[in-house]
Amino acid sequence: MSKETNQQWGGRFSEPTDAFVARFTASVDFDRRLYKQDIQGSIAHAKMLTKVGVLSDKERDDIIRGLSEIRIEIERGEFEWSVALEDVHMNIEAALTKKIGITGKKLHTGRSRNDQVATDIRLYMRDEIDLILSEISRLQQGLLDLAEREFDTIMPGFTHLQTAQPVTFGHHLMAWFEMLSRDYERFADCRKRVNVMPLGAAALAGTTYPIDRHYTAELLQFDAPAGNSLDAVSDRDFAIEFCAASSVLLMHMTRMSEELVLWTSAQFNFINLPDRFCTGSSIMPQKKNPDVPELVRGKSGRVYGHLIALLTLMKSQPLAYNKDNQEDKEPLFDAVDTVKGCLRAFGDMVPAIESRKDQMREAARRGFSTATDLADYLVRKGVAFRDAHEIVGLSVAYGIKSGKDLSEMSLDELQQFSDAIGEDVFDVLTLEGSVAARNHIGGTAPDQVLAAVARGRDLLAARGD
Ligand code: ARG
Repeated sequence: MSKETNQQWGGRFSEPTDAFVARFTASVDFDRRLYKQDIQGSIAHAKMLTKVGVLSDKERDDIIRGLSEIRIEIERGEFEWSVALEDVHMNIEAALTKKIGITGKKLHTGRSRNDQVATDIRLYMRDEIDLILSEISRLQQGLLDLAEREFDTIMPGFTHLQTAQPVTFGHHLMAWFEMLSRDYERFADCRKRVNVMPLGAAALAGTTYPIDRHYTAELLQFDAPAGNSLDAVSDRDFAIEFCAASSVLLMHMTRMSEELVLWTSAQFNFINLPDRFCTGSSIMPQKKNPDVPELVRGKSGRVYGHLIALLTLMKSQPLAYNKDNQEDKEPLFDAVDTVKGCLRAFGDMVPAIESRKDQMREAARRGFSTATDLADYLVRKGVAFRDAHEIVGLSVAYGIKSGKDLSEMSLDELQQFSDAIGEDVFDVLTLEGSVAARNHIGGTAPDQVLAAVARGRDLLAARGD
């Protein structure tokens, strides 16, 4: 058997790694995605080592030059990744040593792959969260514009998916906006705990070199160095939080998707999605399918799965670093890709939604949606609410039998059920009257939709992303 053992850590080994084990334990096929952050972290580390006198200026400059060349080679697709070198960190370090000689071997002074990988992931996530935040804002911007256009469009509001009360379409869209505002906050909050620097924790206990962690943190724009070396190399709670925030976001997007799917159906026919966001059927020529919302609805599953995967990989891990943590990357990367893809698709599609105002209005009219308004009217005339409820119930039963909406009945017909009803009842039985009457903050009145849009615009302007 060949005595050739691993270049980076093979010193104490008497035989090479089993070929399958080498492939089984390698992560380079997926963690190479972190190359940019790995190089960024290494450059900061080398600068810090120079500042504290561990490396010379020349050594630092050689390292920076070598790493910069490697980055270009990777980006041009010229870099040769090797599974034998296990992961992104050792691939880049080996390439650096090949390029600049012995100085390359000094880069790892006072550092371990344990603090290195934790730093790389945090740098990566910070960038991705920033992109996600701006995509959420873009989608919200689209919702504001659409809600403003639809501020007085009347549609049925539902409970139990049964027509309940008329609402404005703008108000419905602003409900989505609120959900997304909380999602934005969740990601922004997660970013605070992501932006803490593990470097300097080394393998687990810190290092004997006179390192300056504040300086490295400053170079990498981290808010602070992590306060405990064991925790810094070990915990992936920030990735779990990210997947939790992603799961809630996707959950919200499945709710929007479900409504879009319903609304585009012939049965509802409330909206049209432009053809560019839909696909056809290879057998049924008449079909136009709302694939984008359906797919977003479906993609929630994988993100929830990644959350459970990360919780499970972290569960019961003793301090400090364990190889289990290598399994954090694929779920995390896929969660990032999925969230970004869903947001991008929605950000493009939502502003292009076309409402079918007549259909929405007709659906609201058909469903006795102003019944509560009639009950409130009777209460204002001195009838107790429970009695008013009963009177309106009887009126609706009559309407079902006679095929008339409440607003289509004559005064005589309505007065069969209560003599408290007068000519002025028709003001409240109209759909416009019903929505306009709910004129308080958070209500569905068109004026309130415009006020909510204005608040939304202020909120987006204050974010500055
Ligand atoms: N590829 C490893 C990971 O992703 C890097 C850290 C390895 N550290 C170790 N002691 N084996 O977690």
